[in-house]
Amino acid sequence: MKILFLNGPNLNLLGQREPEVYGRTTLAAIETKVRERAKKLGAEVEFRQSNLEGDLIDWIQGTPGKFDVIVINAAGYTHTSVALRDSISAVSVPTIEIHISNVHAREEFRHKSLLAAVCYGQIVGFGVNSYVLAVEAAVNVNADQE
Ligand code: DQA
Repeated sequence: MKILFLNGPNLNLLGQREPEVYGRTTLAAIETKVRERAKKLGAEVEFRQSNLEGDLIDWIQGTPGKFDVIVINAAGYTHTSVALRDSISAVSVPTIEIHISNVHAREEFRHKSLLAAVCYGQIVGFGVNSYVLAVEAAVNVNADQE
């Protein structure tokens, strides 16, 4: 099975960005952890990041027939992007929303996700471990679909 990990704006700065909120692990180090877990579970992973909404939308549109599950940390776009939500709705690929921080324990504008209702489920607030847990969740979701 193939899992596409998508990372939205500012996640390229992980490691130096607000470490008190997001920790000191870089996105590259997260990718390594994700690959290790995926290998153990027999899954293939592709890992991408963009600061551009359109890139994320193009990547989601490109998933049918190529990926079994999408895992997305849409970062700030989670709370604002109807277009991203529509692209998740438009493809029939099950999608898992993840966040490093517990968005519900933060500012009120982060409590609302425009993506949640069109996602299979959410993993929120486990620090960078949210990514590793998402590998496990994606494998389970895929088994559910079969
Ligand atoms: C985030 C939470 C979002 O509210 C924020 O805009 C981010 C990161 C997280 O992983 O905790 O950029 O998605």
